[in-house]
Amino acid sequence: MNVLITGGAGFIGSALADALDTAGHMVIPLDNLSVSSRRPSPKGLVVRDVRTLTARDLDGVDTVVHLAALKSVPASFETGNVEHNVAVDRHLLTTFVSSTARRLLMASSCEVYGEQTGPLAENAPFAPRSPYAVGKVATEQLAGIYRPLLDDGRQLGIVRFFNVFGPKEGDDAVVPAFLSAVTGDRPLTIEGDGTQARDLTYIDDAVTMLTRVLDRPELLPVVNLGSGRAVPVRDIAHAVIRAAGRGTITHTSPRINEISSFTADLSRFTRTYGTVDRMPLDEALAHSLESFGRPLATMATRR
Ligand SMILES: NC(=O)c1ccc[n+]([C@@H]2O[C@H](COP(=O)([O-])OP(=O)(O)OC[C@H]3O[C@@H](n4cnc5c(N)ncnc54)[C@H](O)[C@@H]3O)[C@@H](O)[C@H]2O)c1
Repeated sequence: MNVLITGGAGFIGSALADALDTAGHMVIPLDNLSVSSRRPSPKGLVVRDVRTLTARDLDGVDTVVHLAALKSVPASFETGNVEHNVAVDRHLLTTFVSSTARRLLMASSCEVYGEQTGPLAENAPFAPRSPYAVGKVATEQLAGIYRPLLDDGRQLGIVRFFNVFGPKEGDDAVVPAFLSAVTGDRPLTIEGDGTQARDLTYIDDAVTMLTRVLDRPELLPVVNLGSGRAVPVRDIAHAVIRAAGRGTITHTSPRINEISSFTADLSRFTRTYGTVDRMPLDEALAHSLESFGRPLATMATRR
């Protein structure tokens, strides 16, 4: 399979590129490097903006995995990130439709669900509570508009990521912010009381789930990618402190339009792709910690 990955130097994109390359696929990671990253660039990185792609650039490409985006929820309240993301998505959709590529898989987010109770199934209504989430709703609705324009046999799918975490992630999410704080000897900052809960998936497990999706010829129109279990943010903080062997917690005011809980309903994923073995949280955090500095517990033991 020839796969072009936009956002291919990013957290999920570079991990997916490495995994597909190892599995023997021909991978073209593409990224404009606008977001700084702890991860090394994947093999064969093409430094380019998605908005410059033409249909001819997709000649010989079977599948496009579209991960390029500006993903900070708080920043989206103040910046043009949403306008950027929607322009990128629209450009890629028009490019894909007029190309010979067979499949396009686009990244959406659990943020499209907003504040709703219970496990979130794909048929739940959209209820975005941030500009970033509005952008992802736009991604999905644009995909719905372009899908009927595709010839038979061509596919357009959406994957809704919940929180993916792991080594070398940027700091702009709860887990890497905690890992970065603890390795930098700063307190872990919890916004609000920490009862807000997040559905966490370790990056290796997320890549396994993505490759299951890509290994089947047909893409589902939309599918959740998460763990099915919500962990309160204060429990995540305590787990990070356990993994590091030290750390303190401080609280700030709650985030604007904070969402109290995200839990993925994984029925659709499991029905289609089967179950995926998952790394336990403590183990996954310990693995992740190593890339944010030497594990503090080990350093403390060595002293
Ligand atoms: N990581 C998560 O937990 C999570 C959760 C929900 C949704 N998502 C979505 O999954 C996708 C991948 O997330 P990630 O964590 O790997 O993000 P990331 O920030 O690590 O990577 C995104 C990459 O896209 C690149 N990029 C941005 N705009 C571009 C453009 N115009 N042209 C080319 N490259 C561009 C950036 O330089 C960056 O390397 C994003 O669409 C994000 O919104 C991620």
